Amino acid sequence: MIKITFVQPDGTAKSVDATEGLSLMEVAMRNNIQGIVAECGGQCSCATCHVHIDDTFFERVGPAVDDEEDMLDFAEERVATSRLGCQVSIEQELDGMTVRIPSQQG
Ligand code: FES
Repeated sequence: MIKITFVQPDGTAKSVDATEGLSLMEVAMRNNIQGIVAECGGQCSCATCHVHIDDTFFERVGPAVDDEEDMLDFAEERVATSRLGCQVSIEQELDGMTVRIPSQQG
């Protein structure tokens, strides 16, 4: 079982079960997490699945690379631990991770 907690800008948190192999964006969409729009459906071309990874997990998730980095340049509220949810693969070692959703997407 892999638990991921999504935190809204107002502090509201929702913990969900995530399946290994899905992307973080897919987990959010399957659980109706507000604020994850995913306009491009996971093609790394919209930046509307932007999340802030919790500091304690960021090393395990790793930084954005190449195309993702370019898309994040257009993201609102970018921080040092920003990632696009569609580019983060769920793995067992991410059990217990918290991610914050920015107040704006795109
Ligand atoms: Fe479009 Fe992630 S869903 S960049």
